[in-house]
Amino acid sequence: MSLLANTLCLLLFFSSSVLRVAQGSSRGSLGRKNGATTFPPSLLGDDGICASSVVIHGYKCQELQVTTADGYILSVQRIPEGRSGNGNNQTKQPVILQHGILVDGAQWLLNGPEQNLPLILADNGFDVWISNTRGTRFSRRHTSLDPSSKAYWDWSWDELASYDVPAVVEYVSSQTGQKPHYVGHSLGTLTVLASFSEGKLVNQLKSAALLSPIAYLSHLTTQLLDVAAKFYLDEFIRIFGISEFVPKGIPVQAFLKLVCTHPGVDCYDLLPVITGKNCCLNSSTIELLLKNAPQSTASKNLVHLAQTIRSGVLAKYNYVRPDYNFMHYGEASPPVYNLSNIPHDLPLFLSYGARDALSDVVDVQTLLDSLKSHDADKLSVHFIKDYAHLDFVMGVNAKDVVYNAVISFFNRQFN
Ligand SMILES: *[C@@H]1O[C@H](CO)[C@@H](O)[C@H](O)[C@H]1NC(C)=O
Ligand SMILES: *[C@@H]1O[C@H](CO)[C@@H](O)[C@H](O)[C@H]1NC(C)=O
Ligand SMILES: *[C@@H]1O[C@H](CO)[C@@H](O)[C@H](O)[C@H]1NC(C)=O
Repeated sequence: MSLLANTLCLLLFFSSSVLRVAQGSSRGSLGRKNGATTFPPSLLGDDGICASSVVIHGYKCQELQVTTADGYILSVQRIPEGRSGNGNNQTKQPVILQHGILVDGAQWLLNGPEQNLPLILADNGFDVWISNTRGTRFSRRHTSLDPSSKAYWDWSWDELASYDVPAVVEYVSSQTGQKPHYVGHSLGTLTVLASFSEGKLVNQLKSAALLSPIAYLSHLTTQLLDVAAKFYLDEFIRIFGISEFVPKGIPVQAFLKLVCTHPGVDCYDLLPVITGKNCCLNSSTIELLLKNAPQSTASKNLVHLAQTIRSGVLAKYNYVRPDYNFMHYGEASPPVYNLSNIPHDLPLFLSYGARDALSDVVDVQTLLDSLKSHDADKLSVHFIKDYAHLDFVMGVNAKDVVYNAVISFFNRQFN
């Protein structure tokens, strides 16, 4: 479905593409030294996302920092107004954009300015805040831990739900004096749903738009990810343990080779295999995506996603040994995130695609079932026949197909 799928698949896709690109160029270094990794300085956006992807289009943009309660220093970009700068002094609605796994906030800005969600929102009078998950290239600092240490990478999407998202929401609220709207893609939907199910953020966000939503992962149509999660999880843990998962690193390549030799796994033409057949991507945008991704994540995050695929249950990270679980949770099994606990009057917008191999239609149906008691006028569900996973972020027609509906939905929320 989507998390692990997203991660592993994108990994596969990206690493194979990146390998191909690297083989064809003379630039040999991918920034690895002594097991620690730095991103290649030649990647797009060294000056930050504002400079590389926003200001060049004539918009104002500020680079900001948010520190989570567990010490991670996240970078956030704010686009306070549209290109014309109009309505500067009217009260603007803040919107937070949260990306998925193996990418960072730059993913929203890879198309032309008329096609990018952040700039479309800004031109429609919103105050836009782009968040960047811990461990991605501009969010690698911490108040005391170094990214070359294991301790820095000891987290999964539980921590993204309990620390990263709340830190950004609180920061935006404090800066604007308003409740923000939220847009999540892929893993960025799971983290906010997990928070909501524990009663967090439900009073701090005005609404949430979930694009390619990922919660349940038992119908992953990406066979590669499914096989990786079900048959090679132990091998994955043996190789990676608690560490930075560097998609372009040598251990990842070796792991992928292993999975790709499993009978029935087709590692040929990986992008459609992993994400589903995207209808509407621009090849120039794909090239930019490959320059900006994949970004690092924690191997523990991938293990947690694999557990979700295996078990079919949405629960916290499983330490497997009952005594370890007890130490962390006071229970022998990891606590379950019960999505039925999401308040029924919380405005939710949900858009999913028939061709999405990560956010599979059957799994989205399971998510919708858990929301079946939701107030009908607070749940807006959109099914898009032609769309797969990446179309929601970079489809050339996403403005007409998805974003205009998101904007009308936000404009209907008055609470
Ligand atoms: C808002 O802008 C208008 C025109 O640009 C100006 O006349 C007005 O004083 C401004 N209001 C505030 C509160 O700044
Ligand atoms: C694809 O991207 C290129 C380069 O940014 C642009 O010139 C072209 O108009 C785009 N095509 C579509 C259909 O948006
Ligand atoms: C989830 O919560 C709903 C309502 O709050 C409850 O009826 C259901 O039994 C819970 N499910 C689990 C697995 O705890």
